[in-house]
Amino acid sequence: MAYIKWGPDLEIGHSTIDYQHRTLVNRLNDLYDIKQSGKGGEVLLQVVLDELVQYAQYHFATEEKLMAKYALPETEEHLAQHKAFAEKVGKFRSDYLHHKTEITEDLFVFLTQWLKNHILGTDKQMVVTLRELDPDLDPFVR
Ligand SMILES: [Fe+2]
Repeated sequence: MAYIKWGPDLEIGHSTIDYQHRTLVNRLNDLYDIKQSGKGGEVLLQVVLDELVQYAQYHFATEEKLMAKYALPETEEHLAQHKAFAEKVGKFRSDYLHHKTEITEDLFVFLTQWLKNHILGTDKQMVVTLRELDPDLDPFVR
């Protein structure tokens, strides 16, 4: 059973960004499965870590492109949070791959907090501001 079921309560109102956020929720559910299964999740954990590193690149680029397009105020804090996420995920990955540190629980907690604080806080507010600036905001980013 999935830990988090995607639904309207997790959507922030922008199709491209919501679609990408679903990826993060899927990885969070993978981690939940790894936690539940105990041993045997090593290969999946490596894939999850690799995907999170990629996610940080393409997903933040999407949001940052939008912020730049509309010259949003107060983007500095948002960008700092993205940078911190990318660094943290990189550290989880290298701790696991190079030092065999047990990171599943900490990564799970980190992503859960990210979902609550960043996605449902910072990102949600960003879309509110974007819609104030452009009520016809394009739901697709190219
Ligand atoms: Fe963001």
